Amino acid sequence: MTKPTAAVTAVQGYVPERILSNLDLEKMVDTNDEWIVSRTGIKERRIAAKGEALSDFGIKIVEGICKKRGISPLEIDMIIVGSITSDYRFPSAANIICDKTGCKNAWGFDLGAACSGFLYALDVGRVYIENGTHKKIIVIGADVMSSIINYKDRATCIIFGDGGGGVLLEPNQDGLGVLDTILKSDGSGREFLYQAIGGSAEPVTRENAESDGMYVYQEGKTVFKRAVQNMADVAAEIMDRNKLSSDDVAWLVPHQANLRIIDATANRMGLGKEKVMINIEKFGNTTAGTIPLCLWEWESKLKKGDNIVLASFGGGFTWGAIYLKWAYNAN
Ligand SMILES: CC(C)(COP(=O)(O)OP(=O)(O)OC[C@H]1O[C@@H](n2cnc3c(N)ncnc32)[C@H](O)[C@@H]1OP(=O)(O)O)[C@@H](O)C(=O)NCCC(=O)NCCS
Repeated sequence: MTKPTAAVTAVQGYVPERILSNLDLEKMVDTNDEWIVSRTGIKERRIAAKGEALSDFGIKIVEGICKKRGISPLEIDMIIVGSITSDYRFPSAANIICDKTGCKNAWGFDLGAACSGFLYALDVGRVYIENGTHKKIIVIGADVMSSIINYKDRATCIIFGDGGGGVLLEPNQDGLGVLDTILKSDGSGREFLYQAIGGSAEPVTRENAESDGMYVYQEGKTVFKRAVQNMADVAAEIMDRNKLSSDDVAWLVPHQANLRIIDATANRMGLGKEKVMINIEKFGNTTAGTIPLCLWEWESKLKKGDNIVLASFGGGFTWGAIYLKWAYNAN
C-alpha cells in the first residue's frame, strides 16, 4: 500500500455569541467605524463570555466534528491545538479538551505560532497520518484574544476577536488532502508583535500586573509590510512548486488580519475575489482561528478535488502556505 495522504474529512467552527461592533469601540477608544473599515475591512468581532476559555471553544469544535462525521470520541487518536491563549500555562488545552469530550484514547498538545498556529498544527497532524501511526487527528486553531487585548489601546483592540475551528484528518489513498506545505519563521520579528509579561522572560508580579505589558503590543506598520510581502511570496511559491496556475486554484483561504493584506496575496496569485474566502468583516482577526473558521463557513461550497491554498502570516514572525486537495462534498 502506498503512503497515505492526510485528508480533511470534517470541519467545525465556533464563535461566541457576543458581538463587539466598531460602534461599540467608538465608545471605548478614539476611533471610528469608517477608519476601521477602510484600514482593515473589519466591522465587528466576537468576544468570549465571562469564564469561557479556549478549551470551551475546543470542546464545541470536537463535539461538532464527531457528530458530523458520525464517530465516537473514543476513535480520536490525537488533538493538536494551535493557539496562544490556552486556558493555563499548563496543563494544555488539548489535555482538558480530551478529558471533557471523552476522547480517552487521544493524546495531544498545544502549539503556539500566533496567526500561523493552525497551519503549523495542520502540518504536524499531517505527518502523524502519513507515517501511519494515527488514523484520526483533530487539528484545532482557535484563540480567545479578548483575554490578552487592552481595550484602551486602539492600535490592537480594533483588530482582534475570539473564535476558531478545527478539522478532522484521516488517511486517504486517492491523493486527496494535504499535498504540500511551506512553513517559515523569523524570530527577529518578535519585538513588533508580542505580549511582554506573563512568560518566563517577565513573569507576572504584584508590581507589573497592571501595566500595559500584560497585553498584546503591535507595531502595525512593520507587521503590515512584512505580512503583505511574506504571505504573498509564500502563496506564490507554493503555486510555483506545484505547477498550479491561477485557474487551477479553486480557493485561497488567507489568514484574516487585514483586507489589504488579503487583497495583495490574491492579486499576486492572480485570483479574483470570487475565489477568496473573506469573513474578516464579521470576526476580525481571531489569530489561529481565522483559517478553520473560513473553511467551516465555506464548507458547503467546497467540492471534492478542489485545489485549495491556505496562507498565513503572524507574530514571531511566523508564516506559511499549505496546498490541500479537498476530499469530500458536504451533504
Ligand atoms: C494596524 C493597522 C490597521 C494600522 O493601519 P495603518 O494604515 O498602518 O495606520 P497607522 O498606524 O499608520 O495610522 C494612520 C493614522 O491613523 C491613526 N490611527 C491609528 N489607529 C487608529 C484607530 N484605531 N482609529 C482611528 N485612527 C487611528 C494614527 O494615529 C495615524 O494618524 P496620523 O496620520 O494623524 O498620524 C495596520 O498597520 C495593520 O493592519 N497592520 C498589520 C496588522 C496585522 O496584520 N496584525 C496581525 C498580524 S497576524
